Formats: sequence, C-alpha cells, structure tokens
Amino acid sequence: MGKIIAIANQKGGVGKTTTAINLSSGLSYAGKRVLLVDMDPQANATHGLLSLQEIDENVYSVMMSEADIHEAIIHKQEPKIDILPSHISLAGAEIEMNKIAKGKEALLKNQLNQIRDQYDFIIIDCPPSLGLLTTNALTAADSVLIPVQCEYYALEGVTQLFLTIRLVQKTYNANLRIEGILLTMFDVRTKLSVEVSQEVRKNFVKQVYQIAIPRNVKLSEAPSRSLSIFEYDQECNGAKAYKQLTEELIKRNERG
Ligand SMILES: Nc1ncnc2c1ncn2[C@@H]1O[C@H](COP(=O)(O)OP(=O)(O)OP(=O)(O)O)[C@@H](O)[C@H]1O
Ligand SMILES: [Mg+2]
Repeated sequence: MGKIIAIANQKGGVGKTTTAINLSSGLSYAGKRVLLVDMDPQANATHGLLSLQEIDENVYSVMMSEADIHEAIIHKQEPKIDILPSHISLAGAEIEMNKIAKGKEALLKNQLNQIRDQYDFIIIDCPPSLGLLTTNALTAADSVLIPVQCEYYALEGVTQLFLTIRLVQKTYNANLRIEGILLTMFDVRTKLSVEVSQEVRKNFVKQVYQIAIPRNVKLSEAPSRSLSIFEYDQECNGAKAYKQLTEELIKRNERG
C-alpha cells in the first residue's frame, strides 16, 4: 500500500510545488514507485513536468467520476513518475464539489484507493488555501509535509494549518499524521534566514528535517524545461538538498 503524503501550507509561494516535484523525482531515483497528484488549480506541478499536448483528463474529472483514474494518469519517463494532472477548471470545481450533499471530502480518497497498491508513495501538491481541495487531500493522506519559507511571517498560517489538520483528524481522517516540516529558500548569508530556521527548529524540534532547502535559482529554472532538478543540474545545491530530503524521509519511514 502506497503511503500518501500531502504537501500543504495555505501560505502562497513557500515551495510546495517545488518540493512536490523534486521529492517525487528523488523518490523515483531511489527506486520507489511514485504518483504525483496535482490538486492545485494553478496546475504548476502539472506544467512543470508535462507539456499541454500530453494532458487529457485531470484530477477533477476523476474526482467527479467523469473519467477513469487509470486513463487520467500520465506516465512520464524522465523523471520516471506517474502524474495525475490538474487543470484550471479545478478552481470552479470547488464550487461544484461543495454542492455534493454527502462525502464531498472523500472524493479523492475514494479514487486513490483504487490505485494505491501500485505505488510506494503518492505525493499530493495542495493549493495555497484551506478549502475543499485541500480538505480532500488531507482526508486522503496518511501524513502532511509542511514547507516553511525562511522569511518574515514564516510561521504565520502554520497555526491555522495545524487547526485544519486537527479538524480533519476529528472529522474525516483520524490517522492523519505530520510527516515533517521542511525549511525552504534558506539563505545562510542572511541573518533573517538563520533566525527563522532557529525559531522553527525550536518550536517543532524533531519534526523539522535536518536539511534546509537552499535558495537556488536552478530550482526555479528546471520547471520551464519540464524537468526535475535531478535531470536539470544534478550537481547544484538544490539537487543535493532534495536528495538529502528524500533520504531523510525514506529513513524516517523505515523507522516507522
Ligand atoms: N529553494 C528555492 N530556491 C529558489 N527559488 C525557489 C525555491 N523554491 C521555490 N522557488 C521558486 O519560488 C516560487 C514559489 O515556489 P513554489 O511554486 O514551489 O511555491 P508554492 O508554495 O507551490 O506556491 P503556491 O502557493 O502558489 O502554489 C517559484 O517561482 C519557484 O520556482
Ligand atoms: Mg504550488
């Protein structure tokens, strides 16, 4: 049974999608079978890995049972990951989904159950909001990985996210756990980055990954070539950091 990890933080631009793409790719290079599910109407993960011509169905048509999940999944070769794409229509979809009387929080979970055993890891990239799309991701997930940007107000929103996680635990998914907290866009030269990372480590102690993802322009360039950082520039600091994150995550999961 594949482990389902949602990458969530309702704060925008903190590195959710960059982490979803490069962690998925890292896990694949580590020999794991990986599915990346794009739950964001912005479809950044989708377009960071696929060209428009490759996309047919999307996660919304799957959730609404208009398309078969097996047919909607795209098998990418480099990096070797499967992708359940998003589409801009997912924005309006949230309104449609809200009209469903019963079980609207479990639409994604029910679909992923069909294919879960074909993967070791299913990574869900969440939108920067705490609406029904994120609730669907958290209801389907075993755990949440929270990227926190080393910037002013880094922890702003994390409190709200924890409240949402608790609500989902109470109502839809009692087994939901915190996978880990990831410091992103770390810049060792700035006092602010160092201060924020110390603050986050003090607050969340062991939940924080040892590796902090550095600010690295290569990480922002790779998606324009539909590549993960490992094909784009294996030697850059961003690639080394995401490789270490992958190793830490696998090790934590082996310990159970
Ligand atoms: N470590 C990094 N170094 C440099 N640039 C980065 C890094 N991580 C992310 N970026 C860039 O910062 C921007 C925001 O990152 P990303 O899209 O991953 O955040 P997000 O949390 O998914 O955003 P949103 O909330 O809009 O979905 C992107 O342009 C991305 O390329
Ligand atoms: Mg994103």
